Amino acid sequence: MKTQHLFSTDLLSPQVQSELPAGYQLRSLQLSDYDTGFLDCLRVLTTVGEISKEKFEERYDWLSNQDGTYFILVIEDTNCSPAKVVGTGALVVERKFIHDLGKVGHIEDIAVAKDQQGKKLGLRIIQALDFIAAKTGCYKTILDCSEHNEGFYVKCGFKRAGLEMAHYH
Ligand code: ACO
Repeated sequence: MKTQHLFSTDLLSPQVQSELPAGYQLRSLQLSDYDTGFLDCLRVLTTVGEISKEKFEERYDWLSNQDGTYFILVIEDTNCSPAKVVGTGALVVERKFIHDLGKVGHIEDIAVAKDQQGKKLGLRIIQALDFIAAKTGCYKTILDCSEHNEGFYVKCGFKRAGLEMAHYH
């Protein structure tokens, strides 16, 4: 089933929305975001590849059917025409057996367009994802980042914990 919004507007922090610059809007990823600069925004972070509209919609549909697990949000600049996505971030809610069937929020794929960095949009995205994590009952939120970005996440209230390891396939 095709849904226009990936998740409910109840999960969008009114506080974060009120602290964005005029004309900037916090919202869930939408099916129509193939054409709004979302993928270009992610290209600031890493390689995205050339994704067809059909493949984008296929992935969107799959994500929207994973009830309560994937929360991808964007910040859109509506001052320009057409409006443009200038920032994005994702929260993946993992369900565990430990800690009384606890839930852990994983923050992933944070990206702010190059010409929009330094306006606190990254901070607002993290605050908005933290809001979703609290609302969905996560007992903690964790993320992996490079040493280069440690200072940013410290400013967002995170602290170094543990060590990331990877096995690429
Ligand atoms: N190191 C130290 N401090 C930083 C850094 C950094 N790399 N980036 C921002 N800050 C500080 C800012 O100076 C600001 O401090 P202040 O409150 O004292 O003024 C505070 O952090 C908030 O900064 P924002 O303006 O919200 O940052 P911005 O909107 O530019 O977003 C981001 C930061 C997301 C890292 C952006 O630069 C970006 O998209 N980078 C490329 C992609 C990337 O590396 N994403 C993170 C990957 S990790 C992950 O996805 C889990």
